[in-house]
Amino acid sequence: MNNYIEKHRDRFLNELLDLLRIPSVSADSKFKPDMLRAAEYVKDRIKEAGADRVEIYETPGHPVVYGEKIIDAGLPTVLIYGHYDVQPADPYELWNSPPFEPVIKNDRIFARGACDDKGQFYMHIKALETMLATGSLACNVKIMIEGEEEIGSSHLETFVKEHREMLKCDTILISDTSIIANDVPSIETGLRGLTYVEVEVIGANRDLHSGVYGGGVANPINILCDMISSLKDENGHITIPGFYDNVQDLTTEERNALNSAPFDLDEYKKDLQVDDVTGEAGYTTIERTSVRPTLDVNGIWGGYIGEGAKTVLPSKASAKVSMRLVPNQTDQEICALFTKHFESIAPASVKVKVTPHHGGLPYVTPTDSIEYKAAEMAMEESFGKKPIPTRGGGSIPIVALFEQELGRKSILMGFGLDIDALHSPNESYGLFNYYKGIETIPLFFKHYAELKSKK
Ligand code: BES
Ligand code: MN
Ligand code: MN
Repeated sequence: MNNYIEKHRDRFLNELLDLLRIPSVSADSKFKPDMLRAAEYVKDRIKEAGADRVEIYETPGHPVVYGEKIIDAGLPTVLIYGHYDVQPADPYELWNSPPFEPVIKNDRIFARGACDDKGQFYMHIKALETMLATGSLACNVKIMIEGEEEIGSSHLETFVKEHREMLKCDTILISDTSIIANDVPSIETGLRGLTYVEVEVIGANRDLHSGVYGGGVANPINILCDMISSLKDENGHITIPGFYDNVQDLTTEERNALNSAPFDLDEYKKDLQVDDVTGEAGYTTIERTSVRPTLDVNGIWGGYIGEGAKTVLPSKASAKVSMRLVPNQTDQEICALFTKHFESIAPASVKVKVTPHHGGLPYVTPTDSIEYKAAEMAMEESFGKKPIPTRGGGSIPIVALFEQELGRKSILMGFGLDIDALHSPNESYGLFNYYKGIETIPLFFKHYAELKSKK
């Protein structure tokens, strides 16, 4: 198997580079034709890898690519999930090379989507090709690559509900998360949920002269800032009433286990070039970024931001706010609590509008399942070290939905690193990680089939 990977090493890379050249940005409608091109490309490559049937399914948003290779109804079936859409590449000027013209530098692939998630899901297509070419495929494979993950997978719920039979499987395998380091393999056993809202504070019916009216009429930007800063107290606790009501606290053992993972705070600060970290009092950085909920402003605007100065009291101010959620918070409940609270703290001098965007539920998976064990054994075999279970801070909305609709747990066997700069300028993915993934995935199938047959 490793001989086959070695022999086709260059082609495996070049195919990924071609995919990275397609700017499949789901958030921006100007890239709609590229989304279709990316879906076609993925479909063709899955077909070439040896799938029996591959199709593009239209949705009201971006299409889903689905393929399968059913070798024996008696064998377990693994559903692979990934996403071919990427985040916008802005700000372009901060890239050292154009985001959709991949380059290899220092054994890393630099391009938008290199790690998230094109580089990672493409490993599965190459692993499938390898298993079929070497006659070693040990499970049935279903593969679903969607195009709306980065915008909340909003049309996927209907798709999954409508294709429950087609997507039926024993477990789900996803590479869209990170490991601690190349010599410290790990598996994420949880993801945070998300609720995302846009808020608008509206003052007078028009922009006003800030000398004539200033001091006497509400300035929506000042008020928005006050309102936002009141959402957290001096201990970093979120002040929305009821926000923590359903938060599941970890046991002391669970917290100790989480905090025993290798983590160097000085390195962390050095990497980010910050003198100190911040967050909720009483929790470590690992906890703050994985098992505790958050509230963050992602963007804020209003008033005059052009060259020079303009003396104006703006009539409106807006912000985009995200909240990361942990078990057992739900996005709907938290969105409702936020809306009610935000409306209630607005002074009478302004009006506020809260518009919900997308959301998703948090997720956890146990480490004593057959699928977790199979992933653990696969990584131990390929890395030479047993992977550490961690809890991830990011969100993949479909994972909780798979559990709800298909009744199956997902295994988050990702191969990224923090230095990959997901969603940032100069995103990259290590060649080591790409090939390590292609090597590890077939081992998952092998161990999973063996463990299942012993059950
Ligand atoms: N692959 C990431 C999520 C991720 C990254 C999980 C690293 C764990 C470690 C995914 O593509 C992503 O960015 N998700 C979005 C969710 C969304 C836009 C609804 C996120 O977490 O912001
Ligand atoms: Mn992703
Ligand atoms: Mn992402």
